[in-house]
Amino acid sequence: MHEAGFLSVVAAHHDFTLWSSTLSNMTFMATPLFDLSGRVAVVSGAAQGIGRSMATALAEAGADLMLADINIAGAQCTAAELSGLGRRAIPVKCDMSDTAQVQALFEQVDVEFGRIDFLGNVAGAALRRDTLDLSPDDVMAMLQRLVVARFFACQQAARRMVAQGRGSIVNIGSIGGVSALGRGLTAYGMAMGGVVQMTRELSTEFCGRGVRVNCILPAQIWNPGLEGRSKADPTLIDTWLRGIPCGRFGQPDDIKGLSVLLASDASAFITGALIPLDGGCLAMNAGSTAGPVV
Ligand SMILES: NC(=O)c1ccc[n+]([C@@H]2O[C@H](COP(=O)([O-])OP(=O)(O)OC[C@H]3O[C@@H](n4cnc5c(N)ncnc54)[C@H](O)[C@@H]3O)[C@@H](O)[C@H]2O)c1
Repeated sequence: MHEAGFLSVVAAHHDFTLWSSTLSNMTFMATPLFDLSGRVAVVSGAAQGIGRSMATALAEAGADLMLADINIAGAQCTAAELSGLGRRAIPVKCDMSDTAQVQALFEQVDVEFGRIDFLGNVAGAALRRDTLDLSPDDVMAMLQRLVVARFFACQQAARRMVAQGRGSIVNIGSIGGVSALGRGLTAYGMAMGGVVQMTRELSTEFCGRGVRVNCILPAQIWNPGLEGRSKADPTLIDTWLRGIPCGRFGQPDDIKGLSVLLASDASAFITGALIPLDGGCLAMNAGSTAGPVV
């Protein structure tokens, strides 16, 4: 690797460390507006990454939780940590792309908690494949995993929330749902476009019945996928960083503030919103350069 590339890898990792420790030392101010005491949240993909951080933020703000993941050991680990905060946190093994399992998950919520105030629809892996080699089955699998699965969870949650007269749903989308990512992510982008439009439809349909539906659009939040690809090709770090005006990768804990905001009464008038969580990625034109005039 050339020297400039190496230095920015080091700088990027330095930023990770600094930012991670800043985020993990943050505590939420317990103002009534953001207080989630007595609320019940279901978060999928809660074993690691964005789902785990979202669940942690909600628990720190007072919520009890159902933690769904195909990785039950990871979900149990998250639950043990959140129980340490004094919350009820129940880990459940659930493949969110299997409607029977998702229905059983919500039936368990009925039994354990008797209500649901928040759904964090996070789980769902991407597919990267050269578009010339994509099969119709690949595309269908992505649509099933990201759009149909998220829709079914929204519907299960919304039936209960509408009956209660209140609730908040957050779908995790991607900036790839509103702009093109390239690099073999066509089916993923198509599916995330569906998640974006589904959010708008559901928010419009449910807003008169007390249920808000919003969509967070993350990008470049460090995860095992990015780590694996950067190990295989270290020059990718520079390429990615050039597209992030903030000059660093996101960390899963970057989801914490938005999670509490959107789950709480502080966002009572926010629905149908698409909120990028991307260090400025989406705002920057591809021909731009991050930073002031030099
Ligand atoms: N990381 C990013 O930059 C980024 C950008 C855009 C969108 N997203 C989306 O955010 C979500 C979470 O991303 P992450 O970076 O935290 O990923 P991650 O791989 O770190 O974590 C994903 C979690 O979801 C679980 N999971 C995967 N498929 C599941 C299924 N079918 N049922 C239940 N659990 C399942 C995994 O076991 C894991 O615990 C994904 O939907 C991803 O597409 C992430």
